[in-house]
Amino acid sequence: MSALPQILENRYSVRGFKPDPVPQELLETIFTQSLRAASNCNTQPWHTYVVSGEMRDRVSNAMLAEVMSGKGPSPEFDWNVRYQGEHKDRQWGSAMALYGAMDIAREDKPARMQAMGRNWQFFGAPHGAFFTMEKYLGIMGAVDMGIYAQTLSLLLEENGIQSCMQGALGQFPGPVKELLGIPDDYGILFGMSFGYADDHPANDCRTDRVGLAEGVSFFS
Ligand SMILES: Cc1cc2nc3c(=O)[nH]c(=O)nc-3n(C[C@H](O)[C@H](O)[C@H](O)COP(=O)(O)O)c2cc1C
Repeated sequence: MSALPQILENRYSVRGFKPDPVPQELLETIFTQSLRAASNCNTQPWHTYVVSGEMRDRVSNAMLAEVMSGKGPSPEFDWNVRYQGEHKDRQWGSAMALYGAMDIAREDKPARMQAMGRNWQFFGAPHGAFFTMEKYLGIMGAVDMGIYAQTLSLLLEENGIQSCMQGALGQFPGPVKELLGIPDDYGILFGMSFGYADDHPANDCRTDRVGLAEGVSFFS
């Protein structure tokens, strides 16, 4: 069995960043290249909003204010899946891996909530991205958006820039859309924090994967 390609070995979800921004010219190169991602019928349904500097802070503060208001999330797409069976087990496993790395006990709800809140602070990253598509697209658009986001995350990693995809960034779309002027017929599906990893304990988190037999069936 050959070794995992370096880029896949290197990429993992990073949840702690140095404040140093990525140079704008490099960002423009990477985001141009990410537009090469495949999409159904080449529809390219994505429009990405990248926030940095002062706007990053304003958007983060606005999302945190929504979280603190206690109103609850108002995602524009259906994120309400209740995982079952092995999916539930894996969801649990990934949460335990993260809280374990951060030395947060399972029963320590305030610490877990605080860790969750870091999502809306972009985990300290200098940049956040919001992935939007027209709302009518539904699942066909969502498929393309996932492919786009993975292309982007690998291009970032190739350039020594780490990232974390985040459903959490689509949970409080109201003030984000207002600040960024995102049209009503577009929705934020999910987002991503990115920048240069620091030595935050959350970055010690690693997740496992099922083996070939569990994930793939070959027929001939
Ligand atoms: C669509 C999507 C949404 C995600 N949302 C979040 C999120 O809101 N917060 C978070 O900390 N991680 C989030 N993640 C990261 C996953 O937890 C992570 O990819 C998974 O546990 C596998 O770990 P790895 O990326 O380190 O390989 C998300 C990943 C994807 C693909």
